[in-house]
Amino acid sequence: MIRNVSLFWISNYDNLLKNHYISIFFERMIIIMEFENVIKERYSVRSFKETEIEQDKLDRILEAGRIAPTAVNAQPQRVFVIKSEEGHQKLRDVCKMTYEAPVVLLICADIEKSWKIKMDDNFDSAEMDAAIAGTQMMLEAWNLGIGSCWIRAFNSNDIKEAFKLPTGIQPMFILCIGYKASDAKPNERMHFKRKTIEETTTFI
Ligand SMILES: Cc1cc2nc3c(=O)[nH]c(=O)nc-3n(C[C@H](O)[C@H](O)[C@H](O)COP(=O)(O)O)c2cc1C
Repeated sequence: MIRNVSLFWISNYDNLLKNHYISIFFERMIIIMEFENVIKERYSVRSFKETEIEQDKLDRILEAGRIAPTAVNAQPQRVFVIKSEEGHQKLRDVCKMTYEAPVVLLICADIEKSWKIKMDDNFDSAEMDAAIAGTQMMLEAWNLGIGSCWIRAFNSNDIKEAFKLPTGIQPMFILCIGYKASDAKPNERMHFKRKTIEETTTFI
């Protein structure tokens, strides 16, 4: 009797284990597929609803930027969240392309904190670090159903002046974010034109 119970337990445990591995397998499949959907379906959104972004979603987007990898983990990325009418007006005065997004993230880098390599033309990782943080935020936004457009059509000195940025804080780009308007669609001239792997990749 005892033996039967233990056999029963073993076979059940075996099933549990099997199910556990099967569920991990499917979980990973789903994660991979969802991630691929995010990077394949994302496009630059240039028409937004007025609807506000919920604070918990905004927090998740900012978190994606916070945990981004940075050179020597210096974490020089600095994000200014422009939500108020006053902030939007200041930005509109110096950047014509904000597409009336309800939230604009001004992504900067503290160039006093970023990694420098003197032996390589004074390489400064600030822009790369900010770009990785921006990319993570752009993809997390899409993952949450929120569109974005990356903008660099501004003069960084104008931005510094408009927002009275502290010394060392260098504006890198802005990310307009918000829910897509019903007429939002990928820019046909640009979004669908991608070079082939052969054009962009060389196996050595
Ligand atoms: C560094 C950078 C700068 C960009 N600057 C602008 C910009 O100033 N205005 C704009 O409308 N889009 C801008 N974009 C968005 C690109 O035009 C867009 O990503 C590209 O055409 C591919 O389209 P897709 O994002 O829809 O796939 C920029 C993107 C990057 C990565």
